Amino acid sequence: MKTTVNTFRNAKEKKEKITMLTAYDYSTAKLVDESGVESILVGDSLGMVCLGYEDTLSVTMEDMIHHSAAVARGAKNAMVITDMPFMSYQTSVYDAVVNAGRLMKEGRAQAVKLEGGLEVCPQIEAIVKASIPVCAHIGLTPQSVNAFGGFKVQGKEEAAAKRLLEEAKAIEEAGAFAVVLECVPEKLATFITEQIGIPTIGIGAGAGCDGQVLVYQDMLAMYSDMAPKFVKQFRNVGEQMCAGFRDYVKEVKEGTFPAQEHTFKIDDSVIEKLY
Ligand code: KIV
Repeated sequence: MKTTVNTFRNAKEKKEKITMLTAYDYSTAKLVDESGVESILVGDSLGMVCLGYEDTLSVTMEDMIHHSAAVARGAKNAMVITDMPFMSYQTSVYDAVVNAGRLMKEGRAQAVKLEGGLEVCPQIEAIVKASIPVCAHIGLTPQSVNAFGGFKVQGKEEAAAKRLLEEAKAIEEAGAFAVVLECVPEKLATFITEQIGIPTIGIGAGAGCDGQVLVYQDMLAMYSDMAPKFVKQFRNVGEQMCAGFRDYVKEVKEGTFPAQEHTFKIDDSVIEKLY
């Protein structure tokens, strides 16, 4: 069954946890989908884990559309939520609606995600009015890394905690169907989850959220440039990949790959006529 915004709503009502993982290409999306993960986030983390940038700021609309469309082709049941990249919605409500529309039309997303609280509520409202579901994202919002002065836990002081709660409520009021809470202390994330009617999806926000999201390269140990405390490495696929690549080098060098079963045959008479 295809996941929709209703699945999110019902899960919160029934207190069933929601699962979300990132994917950026067709074959990974297929694997994630086949594993029963309910939603796939085409995150702008793409910039770091796929494109090798030091942050997410350089990611473009064209990057997001390209990868979102590939993921959408592989996701049969999982709901595809695509990130709006830096400066595709902050500039104006008009830009936000046009760019959200492009992610739906060209990127075949089912919903968009954007970062920010009170300052982006007019954008959320306008995108939702255009019949595009919006997932919000507060706490540590990586597009604001320069304003934060680094990747840091958010909401630890009273004023910041109050502000996050206020933002979560405003986002719900603006019409978002879910909100990602990133790098927020567990007790605060749990409190926010209890105070709002839309599902919270946590990343580094503890077990009290309505759902969880991780970057798949982090949880499979395929990306080593950064190791956030909140990531659990469920498998060491990075090591498995390196072992496979090393075996390939060895077998090509020693001439044991390709073997007979990997090669195509031709009648000797054809070759003889070439002399
Ligand atoms: O870009 C991304 O992958 C994200 C998640 C970390 C929530 O926004």
